[in-house]
Amino acid sequence: MDALPSGFFAKRSILCECTSSSFAAGNIIALQFAWSGPAPRGGQFFLIKPWRSGVFLARPLSVAGWEPRGGPEDGGILRFLAARRGRGTWELADLRAGEEAELSGPLGKPFEAASFPKGPLALVGGGIGIAPLLALAVELGSRPFDFYAGFRSTSFGLESLKARSLAIATEDGCEGLKGRIPDFFSPQGYEAVFACGPLPLLRAVGDACIAGGIPCFLSMEKHMACGVGACLGCTVKTTGGNKRCCADGPVFRAEEIIFDD
Ligand code: FES
Repeated sequence: MDALPSGFFAKRSILCECTSSSFAAGNIIALQFAWSGPAPRGGQFFLIKPWRSGVFLARPLSVAGWEPRGGPEDGGILRFLAARRGRGTWELADLRAGEEAELSGPLGKPFEAASFPKGPLALVGGGIGIAPLLALAVELGSRPFDFYAGFRSTSFGLESLKARSLAIATEDGCEGLKGRIPDFFSPQGYEAVFACGPLPLLRAVGDACIAGGIPCFLSMEKHMACGVGACLGCTVKTTGGNKRCCADGPVFRAEEIIFDD
């Protein structure tokens, strides 16, 4: 049997108290947990499962926000957004403040926005894909960045965003611009672009950035099981061969990704 990758046992789950649970819009839930482990970075994710659960696998959720209590070792409040789709996320939607869930993380590679310290940045998200970009936005602090957010219908999760500008597009036109957010986005003038959302959005933003010579980083979404690189169940096709979304990503350079037609 092949040896398990290093780190397989390093991320034990921690039983955490849910401090807030609410619906953000439609089937989108907003959850908060008291977390006593290491601080996360924007782009990283956690595996989450209610303590009393009928599902075997925990759900991978990107960190949507982090409020430290004090120093880096003092823990804080983790925020997540999730779309209620399957049994695992229905269970998460049923969590109430004061109940407990098992959290394992932070997992995966973060956005490395600090590598681009000079010019403005663009963050482009679609639907639930805005979650890791909200965490990145907090990390950017006073750095100038523009946020582009696309939704099917009503927007959500943007209340505390401190962007230089915010563009919202909805497919049904009920809020902001009518259409898909990549149609209103150009990478020109940005030092780097960070995106997360459905594959057509990632592809459109990635292609525009590659054509314009602008560094672009895409956070990929895949079904996950182990979340730590052991099961090979979250393959992403790249120019360097198949990579594991959970351990090699979820953030990849746009040029690396091979989108299936
Ligand atoms: S979820 Fe197991 S390798 Fe990624």
